[in-house]
Amino acid sequence: MKQKHYVIGNWKLYLDREKSIEHAIAIEKNKSIVSSDALEIVVCPSHVNLDKISGINKSVSLGAQDCGFENSGAHTGQVSPDDLVSIGCEYVIIGHSERRYQLGETDDVINRKIIAALKSGLVPIVCFGETFEANEKGISGEFVKNQIKSAFEGVSLEDNQRVIVAYEPVWAIYPSKHVVTTQHVHEMVEIIHKTCSPVLGGAYSYCVVYGGSVTGENVANFIDLPGINGVLPGHASTDSSEFAKIIAIVNDML
Ligand code: PGA
Repeated sequence: MKQKHYVIGNWKLYLDREKSIEHAIAIEKNKSIVSSDALEIVVCPSHVNLDKISGINKSVSLGAQDCGFENSGAHTGQVSPDDLVSIGCEYVIIGHSERRYQLGETDDVINRKIIAALKSGLVPIVCFGETFEANEKGISGEFVKNQIKSAFEGVSLEDNQRVIVAYEPVWAIYPSKHVVTTQHVHEMVEIIHKTCSPVLGGAYSYCVVYGGSVTGENVANFIDLPGINGVLPGHASTDSSEFAKIIAIVNDML
């Protein structure tokens, strides 16, 4: 059986409520943007818009951009993973670099969120990637290996549980002008597989996607690489025609 591919649109905080709704309607109207057995398309709007977008987007899956590590209790501002499931989310992004570096989210918090998300039945899309400094020092592999080991500490996947591992070099995320080479992504993805497979188990319990300034222009280069099962565009996913272009190219390559 061929492994499924993913195109996961991370809308970040680019779209306000009105624009999120407009974008969701445009996606729903475009008959070429439909999940299939071979390609799962996921959209990740901001938390406050999830419920609304859940009612609009039926041909793609829904993901949140973060979740809390508990379902109830004294946790001001946290979002319950169970509640995300009840409004139609199947996926949740965890450990995005913008949360790690803008909000100081630690490896320990990320680990707790992964465990909570899995328990609620969500598929965690866990983000890993080295900083600009780590890359300059030539320690990208070590950096990402350590992130992975901490994130999945004590995580053991049951038969029906899956994880998506997103390799997102921080220095290549839009609006950065630094361009990552496919050779670098290739080498990092090999390291990621070597680190993840003993921890997460066989090939069907996890897959690796690439994120960092993915566009219709460059998506084919990443999908072409061995060990990559999809992409996680951020900025480009908030433009309906660019998002459609990325999906069309990935579909053509499957
Ligand atoms: P980008 O974002 O495509 O805008 O670089 C990707 C991500 O950070 O998830």
